Amino acid sequence: MTRITMTVDGATVSDDVAPRTLLVHYLRETLGKTGTVVGCDTSNCGACTVHLDGQSVKSCNVLAVQADGAEATTIEGLASDGELHPVQRAFHECHALQCGYCTPGMIMQSVDLLAENPDPSEEQIRIGLEGNLCRCTGYQNIVEAVRTAAKEVRS
Ligand code: FES
Ligand code: FES
Repeated sequence: MTRITMTVDGATVSDDVAPRTLLVHYLRETLGKTGTVVGCDTSNCGACTVHLDGQSVKSCNVLAVQADGAEATTIEGLASDGELHPVQRAFHECHALQCGYCTPGMIMQSVDLLAENPDPSEEQIRIGLEGNLCRCTGYQNIVEAVRTAAKEVRS
């Protein structure tokens, strides 16, 4: 076992983990952050996306020991002072989800996309989200939600 210490959604956590433990499993099973989900075993669905030191990562693709010392934000840490993040609100208002399974990762990736480009074109949104798969929506309302959130983030 290896001792890791990191910040998750604003709280410092410290645990002994097996060297092969994936970050997504550490978040879900040790910390109870079940808002971050697993949608595949091939690293291509993006449902497990979180932010690590401000960058979106697929947490099934990172070992927990690699996150030692890092600052992580999950979908559960995105709202602040009881207010949804503008991207969360836009997904709700634009009906950008159906089953909701892809939604945590899709939102975390969208937040990162808008941090890098606050005024993305439709094509840039589609490219920015191409690592996140949705089996339900056909993506149109997701693109609309990101455009809606972009307006709010810029204003
Ligand atoms: S669960 Fe991580 S990419 Fe699918
Ligand atoms: S809303 Fe069902 S997978 Fe995206």
